[in-house]
Amino acid sequence: MQHLKGYTADPRSEVIAICDLDKKHVRQVASEHKIPNTYTSHLEMLENPDIDAVSVCLPNFLHAPISIDALNAGKHVLCEKPPARSAQEAKAMADTATQNGKTLMYALVQRFDGSTQRLKQLVQEGELGEIYFGKAGYVRRRGIPIGKEGWFVDKERAGGGALIDIGVHALDCVWWLMNSPRPVEVMGMSYSHFKHLVPDNVKYDVDDATFAQIRFENGATIILETTWALNLPGDNYIKVAGTKAGATLSPFTLYTEEDGKELDKPLSAPSINSFDEEVKHFVGCIVDGKEPISSAEQGIMLMQMLDGIYESAEKGRSVPIADLSAATG
Ligand SMILES: NC(=O)c1ccc[n+]([C@@H]2O[C@H](COP(=O)([O-])OP(=O)(O)OC[C@H]3O[C@@H](n4cnc5c(N)ncnc54)[C@H](O)[C@@H]3O)[C@@H](O)[C@H]2O)c1
Repeated sequence: MQHLKGYTADPRSEVIAICDLDKKHVRQVASEHKIPNTYTSHLEMLENPDIDAVSVCLPNFLHAPISIDALNAGKHVLCEKPPARSAQEAKAMADTATQNGKTLMYALVQRFDGSTQRLKQLVQEGELGEIYFGKAGYVRRRGIPIGKEGWFVDKERAGGGALIDIGVHALDCVWWLMNSPRPVEVMGMSYSHFKHLVPDNVKYDVDDATFAQIRFENGATIILETTWALNLPGDNYIKVAGTKAGATLSPFTLYTEEDGKELDKPLSAPSINSFDEEVKHFVGCIVDGKEPISSAEQGIMLMQMLDGIYESAEKGRSVPIADLSAATG
């Protein structure tokens, strides 16, 4: 629904079709928003030559196959987070986008928040110096999503639990602010202690808490904590620290020094709708032929970090992260 609002708000785009397996739902949304074409098969929808681009807002296991179908049908794709269930799937998506000369962008909405955009600008202007530490948290005390037919809590269909669902937002945001260094090693720990919060008939084999530390090629570190359920108050934070200054998004503050003394500088940013901004960026990239800031290549690296964290948690030791871009040219 957020994508729909975004396209409607942008005069350069028009929503002309909508697809969902649920016929009643799709007709209802179409009539509310005056969308002329409805489909229950994405393959049929993709045959419509008037469609230039599609948003893939589907359960995680469908991100790769349906994005690939859309790219092969000559459409640009804005795919919801997480990019896919694994780096391997994200790589197949990126390759298909390249082969077809189409845009593949990931809907990593936190990048489009006003404060995040402003802080990124300060980073690019060198205000923080060289950034070597990031800390991110997306911690819910209670908040396990189930989704249609329980897909969110089924590893096969979701690819994982709290980490891949909400940890991905926090990790992506802090990593992007640090200029997306290449990850080289990761240590992760996952826990699953809240099965009793989902109905008995729902399969539950995913993490409801994951904690991780990632080391990067440039020597930087990220510490991440993410939970769907934890016996502590909920928390949501992004912190980055560099050689000249550090910053937090909430409170939106720059931490630096003047004459050897600590100095806190409150920051400000315009209040904008991050979902609208995200869609506007996607449309703009298509119109201007530009690379999206949340690109297909970055989606692969982001998924490599998530894969590495899960692998490390399973093996009980840190694991290296291969340089996929170098390995594949
Ligand atoms: N950026 C955000 O803040 C945010 C918020 C919520 C969800 N999401 C992402 O959006 C995606 C969808 O999540 P959700 O909460 O809407 O899930 P959901 O289970 O509520 O809805 C999924 C929808 O997909 C439809 N569907 C399933 N298979 C289909 C197919 N083959 N063809 C057409 N339609 C099909 C279902 O009928 C259902 O309506 C996920 O990847 C999730 O991570 C992102």
